[in-house]
Amino acid sequence: MDKFVIYGGNYLEGELPVSGSKNTALPLMAASILADGTTVLENIPNLQDVTTFAHVLRILGASVQFDPKEHRMHIDASRVNFPEAPYELVKKMRASFYMLGALLGRAGSARVSLPGGCAWGPRPVNLHLEGMKALGAEIDLDQGYVVAKAPGGRLTGGTFALDPPSVGATINLLLAAVTARGSSRIENAAREPDVIVFGEMLQQMGAKIEGLGSTIIEIEGVDALKPITFKNTPDRIELGTFMIAAAMAGRPGDLIHISNAAPEHLGEAFVDAFARTGTKFSFGPGYVDVIPTDEIQPVSIETAVYPGFPTDLQAQWTVFMTQAKGNSRITDTIYTDRFAHIPELHRMNVNAIVVGNQVVVAGNRPIKGAYVMSTDLRGSVSLVLAGLVAEGETHVQRIYHLDRGYENLEGKLSAAGIAVQRVAYQEFPDPVNETA
Ligand code: EPZ
Repeated sequence: MDKFVIYGGNYLEGELPVSGSKNTALPLMAASILADGTTVLENIPNLQDVTTFAHVLRILGASVQFDPKEHRMHIDASRVNFPEAPYELVKKMRASFYMLGALLGRAGSARVSLPGGCAWGPRPVNLHLEGMKALGAEIDLDQGYVVAKAPGGRLTGGTFALDPPSVGATINLLLAAVTARGSSRIENAAREPDVIVFGEMLQQMGAKIEGLGSTIIEIEGVDALKPITFKNTPDRIELGTFMIAAAMAGRPGDLIHISNAAPEHLGEAFVDAFARTGTKFSFGPGYVDVIPTDEIQPVSIETAVYPGFPTDLQAQWTVFMTQAKGNSRITDTIYTDRFAHIPELHRMNVNAIVVGNQVVVAGNRPIKGAYVMSTDLRGSVSLVLAGLVAEGETHVQRIYHLDRGYENLEGKLSAAGIAVQRVAYQEFPDPVNETA
């Protein structure tokens, strides 16, 4: 098992490069099985979730070659012949559930495990299932597996209104609808950049889609799609995380350059909140420059669907606000109990109180290094951010959570002046042998 050991007190400086988007890479990989032949994906991050998804594709019969140095992936779906996504993989990573739409779209049948539990919240898939039925699928449950069939081997198409505008359900319905016999309409669709970029790949494969980025998406089914070469977009959540890291741990007045970025994907709410902290920043083609201030203003936020404040940045914002000149309130309206990291932050002298789906954070408080435990992807990176400004050493344990969504984080932070090491450790040392 690995952990990060962070020696606090160094300023973050220089440059932080952003990797390809995790939450866009996964649906791009799913789309590849809609076309026989080899799809080439570029700017794919070297992450645990990408490795897991590649494994799902191999089980279906696809051949997947990934060059983590070049961030390029070749997926040949010509021999996909086993329409099943097993529990062992779906339970590890919910996005494997995209195989439901992809297999229905490719072969008119699918057997996909239900995702099961998650570190926070109920995360149901009722909208995915009801949506597939609206497109003409027959859906059954068998031993924890969703068994889906398109009568006559091909979906008819149909209309479905989402509530809430689920990212995952929008993506799954698009995967199924693009090769349906007729036309489909997704109402109250998700508008996240991940969905738009994924939809653009489908269009380049030959799909007929109108309305990406709006709440109404119209799809005209086509008989076949073709494999293409497609470049993934930079990770907007990693970008937001790095902007917060720079604002918290950079030397006031010194510029930090965040490269390979897509600032246009951040969404107004985050950009507005970041500006109100008093941190100076500017956007350019493919980059963001941040100039930290020593007077961080407290800014309360409320998460919402895009272009609202991303729930995937609320844990990071919570830690940012511990360095503000006053108190603030963070409200998560998407996942009402995504606060498993708060008790760990308490161990680092953070004063934050969870009340329902809100956390009230006290500012002006020094953070102290401690041994802390990762609980989930974004919760774990918030502990790393706290470690950047902590007095003394911070040991962030179980960083396999972090490896799911942040590529080579310790390498990027070290190159930017932070004293951080990845260290292997044993969680529960062997009990002393009684007889010794
Ligand atoms: C995606 O999850 C992201 N995951 C999540 O990021 C992100 O937090 C989430 O969107 C919201 O932005 C990936 O892209 C792989 P949703 P997803 O369906 O698709 C409810 C990270 O840290 N809902 O938009 O699962 C649901 O309970 C991850 O990278 C239903 O009620 O999210 C939630 O309250 C974590 N029924 C809301 O919709 C359904 O059938 C939004 O969920 C589906 C969802």
